[in-house]
Order: sequence, then structure tokens, then C-alpha cells
Amino acid sequence: MAITGNQVSIAKEFLLKGEVVAVPTETVYGLAGNALDEKAVLLIFEIKNRPSFDPLIVHTDSLEKVKTFVSDLPEKAQRLAEHFWPGPLTLLLQKKSIVPDLVTSGLDTVAVRIPDHPLILELLRSLEFPLAAPSANPFGYISPTTAAHVNAQLGAKIPYILDGGECEIGIESTIVGFENEDVVIYRLGGLAIDEIERVVGKVKMMPHSTSDPKAPGMLKSHYAPRKPLFLNYKEAFVESTQAESTGYLLFDNFIGGVPKENQRVLSRTGDMREAAHNLFAYLRELDALPVERILAERPPMKGLGLAINDRLQRASFSEEE
Ligand code: TXA
Ligand code: MG
Repeated sequence: MAITGNQVSIAKEFLLKGEVVAVPTETVYGLAGNALDEKAVLLIFEIKNRPSFDPLIVHTDSLEKVKTFVSDLPEKAQRLAEHFWPGPLTLLLQKKSIVPDLVTSGLDTVAVRIPDHPLILELLRSLEFPLAAPSANPFGYISPTTAAHVNAQLGAKIPYILDGGECEIGIESTIVGFENEDVVIYRLGGLAIDEIERVVGKVKMMPHSTSDPKAPGMLKSHYAPRKPLFLNYKEAFVESTQAESTGYLLFDNFIGGVPKENQRVLSRTGDMREAAHNLFAYLRELDALPVERILAERPPMKGLGLAINDRLQRASFSEEE
């Protein structure tokens, strides 16, 4: 088990030594190391068991610092940054050579974000280098939204978890790139598309292109629990003689005929923010129950519901390619 605490100075000490620590953000916990130190970056890939073709997000605390490692900031990127940073938005920008190729898996863009959590912001302000940080889960598993989630899976492999409580947003950042005049969404996430469109107008959607080298991490197995997860919860429920051995992830209401302890309701009031906040924690809880499968209800496709549906789809057993 890793030492868990809220001492920014301890996290900093380990990072200065080239080690990797877990850090809180408003989206999910990250596994952080010096983004400009190849050895630290390699360590991140090793600890996560992540394939090296899946690039990392670089975190920093100011637009001035961003400009030290990106070569170009398109006007729309600048507008989005000013509007939403710190916040759950990642921008794909042309990198300077100071960013190791390992961080970007050889791409000429680097994913950048200023996260919105007081502890990581304090840490970033105190450092002279930015932090590369993927979500702090083993590759392919659900992202962690508490320090305990991190400890359960990676605790034996890292020296320190900076504990910032429950992640407020609960799903990863929205990833946005720029192509000519277009703003392109590569990953749905904690910042809703309509909010982005209010600032830069209509965007292009490219979140499902698994073969697109621009988003090599968008793999089918992402965000999956260990138990098979099915999205057709209604049909499966009707003929279910297996209620006892099934966990239910529901949107806004419990269902009858099933033990209540096997059910998790994302938001009783149908609030998408609350649903996103609870999504990964509830999936973990269901995964830990003595059940054989998880059935999930799809939330409506509005606001953060798009990102929630995206995560459920990727986590699901029955997904068609
Ligand atoms: O909310 C978040 O974004 C969290 C917190 C810790 O900041 N981080 C996170 O990192 O979700 P990760 O590594 O789990 O997901 C990053 C995604 C990957 O799917 C990767 O393929 C994509 O970002 N990515 C990174 N650099 C990229 C690039 N240059 N071009 C396209 N996609 C990129
Ligand atoms: Mg991840």
C-alpha cells in the first residue's frame, strides 16, 4: 500500500527524485511524473502497464507555462483555454522538441490541460516542469475517483498518493484538437459539447475512431469493469431468473424485483453532473459485489449524458466495433 496523505511537499519531493505519484484532479486521479524526463515517463507506462503507442496528457498551471512547450496556440484554442481552464478540457497543440516523443507516442501534437483541483494546482505551481499524467488505473480498467481506488490497484507500485478527496466531475476531460479552422472532439468528457460550442461554434465529432492515430487511446476495452457489462438492461431484466447474481447500474430510479443492494442509481433527480460524478465509483462497487454480470441503463443523450454513454459503451461486453 502506498502512503496516502494531503502533503503537497511530499508529492513534490518524490517527483523531484524522478518518481511517480498519484495526484487528484477534478476529473479523475492521475499517475504523475516529470513530463520532461523520459525516465519518469517510462515509469508511468510501466506502472500502468500501458502500451507505448497511447500518448499522455501534460498538466500545468498557467498559459505562460503552456507556451514554453507548445509551438502554436490557435486563436480558438486560446479562447477555449481562457474560458475553461482550469477545468476538464484537454487541448491538442503542436509540441516543441522539449517534450519527449515518448509522451506523445511520436505524434507532433501534445495533449495539454490545466486541471482544477487546489492540491494539484499548488503542486504544479511549485514545480519547474509540467506533469505527464494518465488516469491512475491499470490500462483498460475504470479510472479512479478516490485515493482508495488508486491504492487498491496501484498502491503497491507507487510511493505516495496525494489525497484530494472524491473527484468532483468523475469522468475524464474532453479532448479537443484543431484542424485548419475546425474544432474537433476526440474524446467526450467532463466538459459538455454544448458548452464548448457556445464559445467556438459548431464542432466536429471524431470520438469513436479507434483506428485514428490521432486518438490511439480510444480502445474498445477502455473503462471496463472485470465483470461483463451489458447495456440492454431492460430486455435482460424482463426474462431475468438471475436477479440475485446481477448488478444493476440505473439512471434515476431503483427497479422492483431485484435486491436493492445489487442496484446503484446514478442520480435520483436525473442530474447529469451527479450521474457523471458517481459513474466510475458505482461501477467499481458493482464489480466488487458477488454478482456475475452488470446490466446498465443508458442515461439520456444530453449534456454530460453523451460522455457517460460513451464510457458505458466502451465498458460494455456486447459492443460492436
Ligand atoms: O481527465 C483527464 O484527462 C485525466 C486526468 C488525470 O487529467 N487524464 C486522462 O489521461 O484521462 P489518459 O491517459 O487516461 O487519457 C488520455 C487520452 C488517451 O486516450 C490518449 O490517447 C489521448 O488522451 N491523447 C494524449 N495525447 C494525445 C495526442 N497528442 N493526440 C491524440 N490523443 C492524445
Ligand atoms: Mg485513462
